[in-house]
Amino acid sequence: MQNQRHHDKIAVVDFGGQYAHLIATKVRRAEVLAEIRQPEDSLEDFAGYKGIILSGSPALASFGEDDDWNKGILDLDVPILGFCFGHQEIAKHYGGTVINGKQEWGHADLHIHREHPLFAGLEKIEQVWMSHFDSVTGVGPDFEELGHTLLGEGSAPHHFAAIGSDKLKRYGFQFHPEVDDTLHGDQMIANFVLNICQCDPSWTMASYVDEQVEKIRAQVGDNSVFLLASGGVDSTVAAKLFAEALGSERLNLLHVDNGLMRKDESTGVIQLFEDLGLGENFHFIDATDAFLGALEGKIEPEAKRRAIGDTFIEVFESEARRLGIEDHLLGQGTIYPDTIETGGTKRADTIKTHHNRVPIIEEMIAAGKVIEPLADLYKVEVRELGEKMGIPHDMIWRHPFPGPGLGVRLLCSDGQVEDGDALATIAPAVTDAMTPFGLTAVPLPIKSVGVKADLRSYEHPVLIHGSANWDTLAEASGTIFKTVTGINRTLWNLTNKMPSSFKLLAATMTKDRLDLLRECDHLMMDGLRRHNLYGEVWQCPTVLVPVEIDGEGRELCILRPIHSERAMTATAARLPLPLLAELRDSITALPGISGLAYDLTSKPPGTIEWE
Ligand code: XMP
Repeated sequence: MQNQRHHDKIAVVDFGGQYAHLIATKVRRAEVLAEIRQPEDSLEDFAGYKGIILSGSPALASFGEDDDWNKGILDLDVPILGFCFGHQEIAKHYGGTVINGKQEWGHADLHIHREHPLFAGLEKIEQVWMSHFDSVTGVGPDFEELGHTLLGEGSAPHHFAAIGSDKLKRYGFQFHPEVDDTLHGDQMIANFVLNICQCDPSWTMASYVDEQVEKIRAQVGDNSVFLLASGGVDSTVAAKLFAEALGSERLNLLHVDNGLMRKDESTGVIQLFEDLGLGENFHFIDATDAFLGALEGKIEPEAKRRAIGDTFIEVFESEARRLGIEDHLLGQGTIYPDTIETGGTKRADTIKTHHNRVPIIEEMIAAGKVIEPLADLYKVEVRELGEKMGIPHDMIWRHPFPGPGLGVRLLCSDGQVEDGDALATIAPAVTDAMTPFGLTAVPLPIKSVGVKADLRSYEHPVLIHGSANWDTLAEASGTIFKTVTGINRTLWNLTNKMPSSFKLLAATMTKDRLDLLRECDHLMMDGLRRHNLYGEVWQCPTVLVPVEIDGEGRELCILRPIHSERAMTATAARLPLPLLAELRDSITALPGISGLAYDLTSKPPGTIEWE
């Protein structure tokens, strides 16, 4: 692209550790652009970076796991810093030793041996965060030990917690500076990119707006943009950017009611765009019938996602024809994780297909017909950008809502229990696992999507019953995942007794079922707002599954409040018991509801959405 300002940038090599995205975000906080790259990328892909950070990994360097990555990266003439697995790979490559053992978990004190630009501005002892089975026990000839850790007063030192070679410009930290528990981790990362890699800190939000405006003008030329505006934060911020770059007369907005929106959502979206001054070329279409038609008879989660993604494009194209604007570019509010999760990494692709990355859109992208100004950003950065552009705070901090909407929260079934035999084997195992906690548990005859060791899983949830405090429930939930296979979610029964019969019913995506889910979701959201908890919780899907309990009602309702930072990982949010009691009374009183449960699952092994 012409006229683009140059930014120094850092490559973060993602070995599949949980925190690669966090590393990239922390580099950007130092106002240096960071991009995620894969360990098998070619050396040409690494051209133009002023430094490289190697992330951690679930693999064990001591056993040579994940050993076939492109080690030519280590011969590139730029500084390289590794964390955990990355640290161990650097040690090994340059003649050091790594053993399986000397593990450390949680907080440790890093004792820094001497003044060094990596540790500029820090104390001699710094709190760091550890999570490793493998350890470096020796370094090659050009390397020195820059720091060791102590787990507490009088404990034996854990050597080689920080290593480095100033001659080779290779460094390694056994700890994770990217997590907040390493108190001054941000400073260490900034020290690497600014002091060692000598990057110019030019990547600021203000400069980002200016550059994107220029870039949009260059890409669009004399043409115009037709943007799908869901009312979510990403497409709304994208709309503001397009309007700034092109003027609202060259921006057409289309809001599609796909029948999978929340209660009264579309009315609110139309109002929002009026309020933002973007109501001029705003078009609205109620395409509920087209979406429900495409979803008819579809049960498998990926088939539903594809049907929804394809229908968006069909509706978009037919509206473009009707308005005579077929030649406009398709604008999308795609953000970085959408790209990286669906297309950017081999593994994540198998978990879920994001609605803005279905094959038709991939073809349009290849043909240059799509424009996505936020494709480099994370959600937190999109929010920062939106605030800079004057979008109201309440809009910016709305909970994320998935493109396929309630379509991935309303489970469908042909009424046939898959893996009936496996379910029968799981049942005694979960009972045994829960007895020590004084809880009872039953696996349910449905399946949902989860993610285990970076792979998609499609497995049964377990319903747990009994009174216990949150810590016990969390421990019980963790125990089930550790001891029983074939389970990827745990639910806590919110009704008064453990049901004795569960029947999977045949159910498809119908308007009546969607209306019932909309009502349950409305009660949940209203409860969060009334208890002033909306801002505390990152997202809260409400899910319906067609399971009849004790011969009553057709739908089991599940609440899934979570805490998360970037949606890559999540933990169940703990809601106050009075709110849960209110929800039990109001939701179970709705006609058609057979029971209510609370999803206790973290991500992994569950995903945030059920499908
Ligand atoms: P999962 O369920 O994979 O979701 O843990 C992570 C986050 O992504 C949202 N999500 C989507 N957002 N299009 C979107 O724009 C999609 O197809 C999609 N699928 C999931 C989900 O709500 C959560 O915040």
